[in-house]
Amino acid sequence: GGRRPLVAGNWKMNGTRSSIAVVEQIRENLSPDLAARIDVLICPPSTLIGSCVAATYGSSIAIGGQNLHARTSGAFTGSISAEMLADLGAKYVIVGHSERRAYHHETDDGVHAKALGARRAGLCGIICVGETIEEREQGRALDIVRAQLAIGLPKGATAADTVIAYEPVWAIGSGRTPTPRDIAEVHASLREMLDKLAGDEARKIRILYGGSVKPSNAREILSLDNVDGALVGGASLVAEDFLGICAAY
Ligand code: G3H
Repeated sequence: GGRRPLVAGNWKMNGTRSSIAVVEQIRENLSPDLAARIDVLICPPSTLIGSCVAATYGSSIAIGGQNLHARTSGAFTGSISAEMLADLGAKYVIVGHSERRAYHHETDDGVHAKALGARRAGLCGIICVGETIEEREQGRALDIVRAQLAIGLPKGATAADTVIAYEPVWAIGSGRTPTPRDIAEVHASLREMLDKLAGDEARKIRILYGGSVKPSNAREILSLDNVDGALVGGASLVAEDFLGICAAY
């Protein structure tokens, strides 16, 4: 307990300059009372980070990246480093999202290297873990996410440089969510693992849930033990829906 909630939006590969209006609407309609109690983050595509930082300037809303290259700079055509994200004003970066793992062959070791890159640049890395439907049906969900965390999490992780996000792959963009009981079970298991891996700092590190979070299920999910916020995909593209999820707090 005692962890400050984080509601994070991941726009994925959605949004053009006209979408900056969504961030402006979130800024205008996020009540000061709520902003005082929770952290709010939007991760737009890289092309919009600079303008979203400008649109939220002076507010408590943070802007983050969706991915990074582990190295600082070099001959890596098309890649973006943590330093470049930080230079734009980003405060967070998502690391090892299941779509990166599935479509860009990211491994747990790669996630570890990227999380170190985020820390090096002063960003907070949101390390994503989650099982596939096959893994859940085989009863391996807890083993899978614990192993992903054990390998992905760098030594000496702190609450300032690390957030964990549990996203069951089969719940992403599907409208399906695990039962509250199943979510609570995974979060409790991840927290126990975190205690082993991060020592005293572990109890301060937040664990988010992601996968088909919407205004209608946010209250139930976000009230669960060890659920310290949400990583929201589809519903973060609409200001009213994203704010509806924030309002669960
Ligand atoms: O990063 C966000 C997640 O992949 C969840 O996406 O809310 O559209 O299911 P979703």
